[in-house]
Amino acid sequence: MKLLILNGPNLNLLGLREPEIYGNQTYDDLCKLIEAHAAASHVEVEIRQTNHEGLLVDWIQQARGIYDGIVLNPAAYTHSSVALLDAVLAVGLPTVEVHLSDPMRREAFRQISYVRSACVATIAGKGFAGYLEAMDLLLQRYSA
Ligand code: DQA
Repeated sequence: MKLLILNGPNLNLLGLREPEIYGNQTYDDLCKLIEAHAAASHVEVEIRQTNHEGLLVDWIQQARGIYDGIVLNPAAYTHSSVALLDAVLAVGLPTVEVHLSDPMRREAFRQISYVRSACVATIAGKGFAGYLEAMDLLLQRYSA
């Protein structure tokens, strides 16, 4: 099984960025945790981060036929991007929306997720563990 893990804007600044919300661990720590979990679960992973909406759209489109599922933290584009919603709908790959924090408990503008309706699940507020839970969920679906 091959999973694509996509991270949106400012997630490269984990560790520096609002540690009271996102914690002290870095983006590199997140990648290492995901890679270790993937190895233990016998899953292949590719992890990417970009600050550019169109590049996320390109990566989602290109995932078709290559990956079996997507773990997507669109970061701020969650709350603004119809293009990401359309990309996930277009490729039809099982996609899990992940957020480190719980946007539903934050500002009103974060309580809208455009991509959510195209996702098989949303995992929020569980920090780095949310990514691992998303991977497990996609693996379970794949093996079922
Ligand atoms: C986030 C939540 C978003 O509201 C925010 O814009 C982010 C990160 C999260 O992982 O908690 O950049 O997606």
